[in-house]
Amino acid sequence: MQMYRAIFTIAAIFTVGIISAAAQNSNEITSAPVYVPDTTHQNDPLPDGVLVFDATSKSVDAVEGDNFAHFTFSLTNVTPNIVTILNVHASCQCTVAELPPVPWQLPPGTNGQIKATVDLAGKTGTVFKTIDITTDKGKKQLLLRINLTPAPVIEMTAEQKAAGIAASKLDRQAVFKGDCASCHVKKVEGKFGQELFKSTCAICHEATNRATMVPDLANLKLPTNVEFWRTWITYGKPGSLMPSFAKSQGGPLDDVQIVSLAQFLNAIHPSQAPPAGN
Ligand code: HEC
Ligand code: HEC
Repeated sequence: MQMYRAIFTIAAIFTVGIISAAAQNSNEITSAPVYVPDTTHQNDPLPDGVLVFDATSKSVDAVEGDNFAHFTFSLTNVTPNIVTILNVHASCQCTVAELPPVPWQLPPGTNGQIKATVDLAGKTGTVFKTIDITTDKGKKQLLLRINLTPAPVIEMTAEQKAAGIAASKLDRQAVFKGDCASCHVKKVEGKFGQELFKSTCAICHEATNRATMVPDLANLKLPTNVEFWRTWITYGKPGSLMPSFAKSQGGPLDDVQIVSLAQFLNAIHPSQAPPAGN
């Protein structure tokens, strides 16, 4: 009987222990201060006199072929209360906004920054992007404008041209090296298709002053297909001025880039001759 009582008591202590631990846990959960931002005004326009921006519209100049345009907007909370930035939304995937984690609470009188980076891949002319800022006091839109001008045409002297051709005759990969690379190799990382063509091939094949041995790719008289383009880009042609572009051959492009370029060229310059054997 003694023994039964002892076991019973231990079991009871255990049970009470478990219950109190559970109670403590549930207490912790329900009593933790959970910040719930006020979203009742998130769809209203932000009234004046809440956030003061250094500008709500900014403009940046860039040259076609540049990779990114950068913007920084500065904002100050001029109210006596906290203003909370609930979220920030850019008008396209190509625009990335950088700010402290949201909800971002700006205490009265404090200043903060929202940075934006626009990826210029494939863009020309005047480009507009927007960033929508939603706060607990209302919404505000920032306007980003990028003025892209075409890359300046490079004027070459007859000596420079002759020197280039002479150096390429000795080594057709010379364009990727030293001083030659400053004009001939634009940044290629992250570029594909048309953009890659503009930054790697156009300098020779689209130049109005190009030498007679540089063919017009839009008017090839032989049968072409994706494989034709891929092979030429990968290996070029030994004994000519056409370099090999594949990394495996000492060039700047990886296989994925080469395929993207071959597909782009095959699409814009469909074969003008029937396939061989027909
Ligand atoms: C340094 C100048 C230069 C650059 C840069 C260049 N090419 Fe060429 N390319 C040439 C020359 C010169 C030839 C002619 C080769 C020959 O003598 O047959 C040629 C030939 C070609 C041909 C063969 C056309 C035919 O007549 O069959 C193709 C296709 C081609 N290039 C594609 C490209 C592509 C795509 C790029 C960019 C990845 C590129 N080239 C970059 C100079 C260049
Ligand atoms: C100042 C920029 C610049 C530099 C530096 C330069 N090139 Fe060029 N290259 C060009 C341009 C632009 C063209 C297109 C033809 C033209 O406009 O005259 C070209 C064309 C070529 C061609 C095709 C033949 C032709 O004249 O159309 C070859 C080959 C060539 N360059 C090789 C070289 C080599 C090798 C070097 C280094 C020794 C070099 N280039 C340095 C800008 C440059």
